[in-house]
Formats: sequence, C-alpha cells, structure tokens
Amino acid sequence: MDIQTSSDRFGEIDVQALAVAVFKDEKADEGFLKDLDAATSGIIRSVIESEELKGKEGETVYVHLTDDTQSKSGMKAKRLLLVGVGERDGYKLLQVSQMAGTAARALRARNVKSMGIIARAPENEAERAASATVEGAIMGLFEPDKYRTVEKEERTIERLVVVAESEDEEAIKRGAERGRIVGEAANFTRDLANEPGAYMTPTIMAERAQQIASEYGLEIDVLDRDRMEQEGMGALLSVARGSDEPPKLMVLKYTPENGGGKDGEQLALVGKGITFDTGGISLKPGENMELMKYDMTGGATVLGVMRAIAQLKPSIPVMGIVPSTENMPSGKATKPGDVVRAMSGKTIEVINTDAEGRLILADGIAYAKKLGATRIIDMATLTGAVSIALGDVNTGIMGTDQELIDEIIEAGREVGEKFWQLPLDKEYSKQIKSDIADIKNVGGRKAGTITAAAFLKEFAGDSSWAHLDIAGTAWGDDAKPFRAKGPTGVAVRMLLNFVERAARAANEWSKHGSPKPPQSKN
Ligand code: BES
Ligand code: ZN
Ligand code: ZN
Repeated sequence: MDIQTSSDRFGEIDVQALAVAVFKDEKADEGFLKDLDAATSGIIRSVIESEELKGKEGETVYVHLTDDTQSKSGMKAKRLLLVGVGERDGYKLLQVSQMAGTAARALRARNVKSMGIIARAPENEAERAASATVEGAIMGLFEPDKYRTVEKEERTIERLVVVAESEDEEAIKRGAERGRIVGEAANFTRDLANEPGAYMTPTIMAERAQQIASEYGLEIDVLDRDRMEQEGMGALLSVARGSDEPPKLMVLKYTPENGGGKDGEQLALVGKGITFDTGGISLKPGENMELMKYDMTGGATVLGVMRAIAQLKPSIPVMGIVPSTENMPSGKATKPGDVVRAMSGKTIEVINTDAEGRLILADGIAYAKKLGATRIIDMATLTGAVSIALGDVNTGIMGTDQELIDEIIEAGREVGEKFWQLPLDKEYSKQIKSDIADIKNVGGRKAGTITAAAFLKEFAGDSSWAHLDIAGTAWGDDAKPFRAKGPTGVAVRMLLNFVERAARAANEWSKHGSPKPPQSKN
C-alpha cells in the first residue's frame, strides 16, 4: 500500500473514497461538518437527522455523491464513509487508530482502491495521530486467511492518503512513516503468531529472525542445542527433549550509531517462543488445542519490535532474545517429577510439563543477564489464568521494579494498550517451593498467573525486570470493525513507544548531566 500525506482541504484529495471521523452527537451545521455538508449537497445533515449515525464508536455510514453534487462542489472523492468515533473528549490515539482500521476495512470491503482518512485529531497531536492513523489502517487490513484458496477476497487498498490540516507537514510525514513501520511490525508479529505449528518451527522462526537481521541490519546469533548445552540451559533443553524439531535461541542486537548506552543501560526483550504447546506428557485436552500454535507470540512480538527498532533507530541499545522449542510428548520427553538444572544453577522439579513457558524463559532471562542486560522485559502467553483474571482487555504485568512497570503502563496508555499490574508479594513464592529441588514449576490452583511470575522472579534476581502475560490479549476470538479475528499484535506498539520514551529520557539525561535518568512521569 502506497502511503501519502496531505494537508489539502478535503475537496482536493484525489481518492475514490474519503473516510471522515464524526464525534458523538456532532451537529451538521457547525465547524468541519458544516463545510462537508455544503460540499455534499446536505448529505451530512440528512444522515445525522435520520439518526442513522449518532457518532458512537464503530458506527459507519457509506454514501455515493451524485455526479451533479460532485461537479457543483468540485470535490474529487466520489464516495464518503462517515465513521463514528465517540465523545470528542475521549478521542485519543487508540480511537484514531481504530477509526482508521474501521475505515480501511469497510472501504476495502466495498472494493475501494484509493482512500483518504480525515481522522480529525487535535492539531497538537498531529504527528502522533498520523502515526496512529497509518498503524490502524495497516493493522486493520491484516487478514489471517493466508492459506485460503477458494472464495478468497483479493481486494486491496492500493493508496492511502492521511489528511491532516497542520502547519507542519513534515511532522505529518514523519508520523505517517513511523506508523508504517509500527503497523508493519505488528502485522509481522501477527503473521508469525498465526502460522500453523508445522510452518513455524523453531528452525523456521530462527530463519525469520535471520531475515530481519540481514534486511534491516541487526546483529544476530542463534544458539543451537550444542551451544545451549555448553551454556547449561537445562530448563530450555528439558522442554525440547520430547520434540523432533531442534530448539533454537535467537539473539538480535540493535546498537545505535553513537554506540549508545553510555550510561551502561542495556534493555533486553525476552519472548516465549513455544512454536506448539501440546502440554508434553501433561498433555492438554484436545479442545481448542489448535490455538496453541500461538504460544510463540511473545517471541514473535520480540522479533516484530526488533524489526521496527532497526528502522526507527532510537538512540539506546536494545537486545531481543527468543528461546524457542516445541513442547511435545514422546518417549524422550521430560516426565512430571523430573528435576532439571537451569542455566542460573537453580534446580527445578517439573511437576507439570505443560508449565513449559516459564522453563524456557528462565534460561532466556539468565542468558539476557549474561549478555549484560540491566533492564529486562519478558513477554509470554504464559497462563490460562490471566484470561480468567483480566479477560482479553488487559495484559497482566508484574515485576521487580515499580518504576519500570509504571513506565510500561504509561507507554501503553499513550498508544491505547492496557496493562494491569498484579501483585508479586514474596508470600506467593512459598507456593513454588519443592521438596526435592530448589523450586517447582507450578504453584497450585491459586493465583496461577502470579506464581508463574514468582517462578520467573527467581531467575531475574535483583535485575530490573517486568513480565507481561499476554495469554489473554494476544488472540482475538471475535472480529472487530477495526480488526480481523485472530492474532492481535498486542504489546508491539507499547514496546516501541516504551523504547522511544526511554531514548528521549536518556537523551535528556545526557544533555543535562543529571546523576540519574529522569524518573517516570506518573
Ligand atoms: N501456553 C499455555 C498458556 C496458555 C493457555 C496460553 C491458554 C494461551 C491460552 C501454558 O504453557 C500453559 O499450559 N500453562 C498452564 C500452566 C499450568 C500447568 C500451571 C495453564 O495455564 O494451564
Ligand atoms: Zn503449556
Ligand atoms: Zn505454553
């Protein structure tokens, strides 16, 4: 899709269809809608008076202008899509992005090839709104039906024009370009998450990581089984034992041009890369098991984010680590009751082989520390319990560093992604005490999401660390007007915003030479 920007008036935008945001209870005889109404021979007033459109979020009305109207007003677009966006007060980047997604999906369905989006974001937000508009449109157009061959809609939007009246057209261009990078990164993550287990093995995932590294210029290292053995990654290897597919641990490194990280800070993103989770010997029930192809979404999120970072070039170093394996039952598989030794030296009693994500993350986190990480964010489809607690609305977040957690929540809030902190008091760690080893890999029925995090905390140690449990938010069971059902790409936008905020904070810090980087603004 060709992406352009324009600060021309709506009549000048040369596209087949224009999508326009309409606020709740907005009148047709005031402000922008008044102009649009005049140019369309009163269509806006007619639609609003008929109460077909009240401006509620997600509502749409689609109209064609007559040739007569068009020639009178000189308006170039012949079709108009009015998109309800809710209250003007609550119109934030999330709503802008959803408006764009809704518009792109609705117009593609009507076989439109070129479209303009008039998102009507506040002027002082123009750059970020341009980004959100493009992100929303690109993410809105993602479809999970890659392997469908019959009755497949081959409609595509070929050209998107972001229309924003702003003094600073360069800012809109920058925003739109950022939006393209971010939206494509999120769709990259979704595409990986959507792949069947047979087409997304650890080997294939590592190849995709290699491709990103060579295409966008990142350092890469992929550890195979031998190197994992040398590193003593007994926890990761214990999960891989049952599978015929060899495990991989990917390391992608981004270093800014100035070398960056003069303050010695090294951010590491660690993502769970279970390319299929059968549960192992503690076999899962068959119902919905096919969904366990998305158990590598944490890893795919790391890859998507690194892909975008390589293009956005923030001024701080970032490292992405993805431990990856299948979790399969077989004659070689780890059995409940087995004791394994993690890279950190801790011994783990494996009570349930289905609690495998924490095992591979234990070694992923230990390896991040070995490579010098000072701040670690891990992300994983870790527990079914998190969707019982938070549903598909909030991602669970826990960790050892409240400042880091607050910063993540704020970075998410800015881009419309919700994170909700669960407590991680030391009392919960009692649930993972083992009779035979240092710890065990499950903590019983109570507080399943928290005890999984308590397990990871044993490996994060005193590092600054936060854990995101995306099991409830990484997959959408239903389609939304702005997005297909299936993988959501959750956390990609938050993490990119987080990294950009951290880079800005580090720049401020080096400019003013204050002894510590600025604290989070909460
Ligand atoms: N991959 C699953 C968690 C999951 C469940 C992700 C549903 C997405 C949707 C994870 O490996 C797992 O099986 N966790 C167990 C832990 C239990 C054995 C302590 C769970 O949540 O049931
Ligand atoms: Zn599992
Ligand atoms: Zn799993």
